[in-house]
Amino acid sequence: MPHLPFALPDIGDEEINSVVECMRSGWLTTGKISKTFEENFANYIGGNVEAVAVNSASMGLMLALEALGIGAGDEVIIPTYTFSASGMMALHLGAKPVLVDIDPKTMNIDPKKIETAITDKTKAIMVVHFAGLACDMDAVHAIAKKHKLFVIEDAAHALPTTYKGRLIGNNTSDATIYSFYATKTITTGEGGMIVTSNPKVAARCRIMRLHGISRDAFDRYTAKGSKWYYEIVAPGQKCNLTDLASAIGIEQLKKAGKFHLRRQEIAEQYTKAFKDLPLILPDQALDGDTHSWHLYVVRLASGAKLSRDEFIKKMDESEIGCSVHFIPLHLHPYWQEKLGVAPGDYPAAEGAFSQAISLPIYTKMTDEDVLKVIKAVQGILC
Ligand SMILES: Cc1ncc(COP(=O)(O)O)c(C=O)c1O
Repeated sequence: MPHLPFALPDIGDEEINSVVECMRSGWLTTGKISKTFEENFANYIGGNVEAVAVNSASMGLMLALEALGIGAGDEVIIPTYTFSASGMMALHLGAKPVLVDIDPKTMNIDPKKIETAITDKTKAIMVVHFAGLACDMDAVHAIAKKHKLFVIEDAAHALPTTYKGRLIGNNTSDATIYSFYATKTITTGEGGMIVTSNPKVAARCRIMRLHGISRDAFDRYTAKGSKWYYEIVAPGQKCNLTDLASAIGIEQLKKAGKFHLRRQEIAEQYTKAFKDLPLILPDQALDGDTHSWHLYVVRLASGAKLSRDEFIKKMDESEIGCSVHFIPLHLHPYWQEKLGVAPGDYPAAEGAFSQAISLPIYTKMTDEDVLKVIKAVQGILC
């Protein structure tokens, strides 16, 4: 029986042909193709936003924080139930991530717990739309407005998540950052996009993604006149997205709707098949809204007579790859040492983590693959 991987990218001839064309063109790094990808992405999100392509969501988070002026001595509120990058990027700027527990129903940051974490050093709230389910953005924006804080959305999981009828990113947050890592809902291998309606934030991110140079590489090598001249105007990073990657991204974005339909179909089949099992199923999007279904995370309920680790071992024996999202930040040794946090500090996140299993959900799964997962889960829990 062939092993079913936990995740696979969905790359077609369109992506392959676009990359080949880019390779033949003689221009490989950030140029016209990346500009087109940015424009297409901004149009896709809508609402007069600008999009800035970077080589990862991690660096996108860092650039967005920096562009908002967040640095040494500042505090940024983040959920403990996230990938380390959400907090690490603030830390690299000299700021301190302040962890907040999740709402056990949604597995997203619990807005009721945000206010107690706010101090006079707090500058921003960073939310994470876990698995692709939108956070309660009305509540988050209300708190941010009251305390004059920036809102940054870690939307690594959240394409094409909507909140109250609009795509995440098309709202009043200061910046929204998507990931195009290999397992995400669309991919460029590695990559990310900063989306913002603030032109100053977009301009700063553009400068900071390329060494703090006042002109981008394409301008310098293709402009008429003084091609060689540039000025360093800021202490920048090197995290621009290449045209090779953007060529993949343009084709993937065209397929985002089709990809989402397939993920939704699989999620619906899982939800139907698992409804009577001792499982806590993922929370659904609000009526009329879209869950991106980047992840389908089930949690073992009290009636399940085995542990999470035993469950994953049994799935492995059935040749099915599973994963766990996430090990909460406060359970990692580095974060414990750095932030003075400890096991027991965030009980909702810890409870979720001890029960959570991410099942395979991706567009390359055949109907037989989906059935294989359903049968294995039923076999373990019935
Ligand atoms: C919630 C979250 N934020 C940020 C990232 C970082 O994304 P990237 O790999 O594009 O840097 C990830 C990656 O999986 C993630 O899950």
